[in-house]
Amino acid sequence: MVTAVSKVSLTGIKPTGEPHLGNFIGAIKPALELAGGAESIYFIADYHALTSVRDPELLGRWTRSVAATWLAAGLDPERTIFYRQSDVPEIFELHWVLSCFSAKGLMNRAHAYKAARDRNREAGVEELDAGINMGLFNYPVLMAVDILIMEADLVPVGKDQLQHVEYAADIAGAFNAVYGDSFKLKVPKAVVPTEDTGRTLPGTDGRKMSKSYNNTIPLFAPEAQLRKTVRRIPTDSTPVEAPKDPDSSAVFQLLSHFADHKKLAEVRTRLEAGGMGWGELKNTLQVVLSEQLSPMRERYDALMQPGSELEELLALGAAKARRRAQPVLEQVRKAIGIG
Ligand code: TRP
Repeated sequence: MVTAVSKVSLTGIKPTGEPHLGNFIGAIKPALELAGGAESIYFIADYHALTSVRDPELLGRWTRSVAATWLAAGLDPERTIFYRQSDVPEIFELHWVLSCFSAKGLMNRAHAYKAARDRNREAGVEELDAGINMGLFNYPVLMAVDILIMEADLVPVGKDQLQHVEYAADIAGAFNAVYGDSFKLKVPKAVVPTEDTGRTLPGTDGRKMSKSYNNTIPLFAPEAQLRKTVRRIPTDSTPVEAPKDPDSSAVFQLLSHFADHKKLAEVRTRLEAGGMGWGELKNTLQVVLSEQLSPMRERYDALMQPGSELEELLALGAAKARRRAQPVLEQVRKAIGIG
């Protein structure tokens, strides 16, 4: 009998900062909307963050903060497997094994590694590998293991991570070429959103919202801080009465991601007609943001309390993840002749 087996999709989230509005609209919301179809696996890639985060307090806090954010945003830990990478020791054993099947030349060509060398070259540093640690170099191998150990079929990623998923397929192929008769790693496929447009938010300086531009609006900032941040978004000096072009305003663009159609149409009409000032528009944005975010923020704050159920949920997720990972590692060990 042939049964339809549903595809397993897997995504890792690197905890390198407090989640902001751009992460929510660009990554979290679409991922959770998609979670319906395939069986899904989400994890916090805390060991990946170690290549850049060197403050133990921050690494711990961001890891919990990212986990609490996904749960507050509606991730259902019953239906999905949700865990912290560092809670699954099998990953790190397989990492060594698969590093022995990862071509060094392939890693030499990895975008992030090449970009780090380019920065040295541009800065006139003679040793192009200066300041680059092996964690950065091995990053794609660890990511391949994340994917392969869970036998994921699909990996939804942004364009910047596509190469890494291709590497994972490559590494699986290299392993399978040697041991395929006794055990085959599942070869994954990347799923890249066809258009990111419409999912990019402007930051408080009008450029794309990004941690590296320091222009983010934190997703769960306290009300007073949210108000201050919204106030800081630059606007031109068009007087209140003058007609305005909503589409050239970062405040309006932000509003368009959170307000319902009716509200948005009303605001657009008033801006175009003149009579609505930027100050009022900012107030409107702030009110809409608090309406949308405060129920989630409550859940987030509760999860971030010491002794909340967050640790319990992550421990349950880790147990499920290990149950998936162990047989894969076992079969790999057997295939290579260890143990
Ligand atoms: N490298 C990814 C990022 O920077 C995070 C990540 C780690 C990941 N392991 C993964 C994504 C496995 C997908 C699958 O965003």
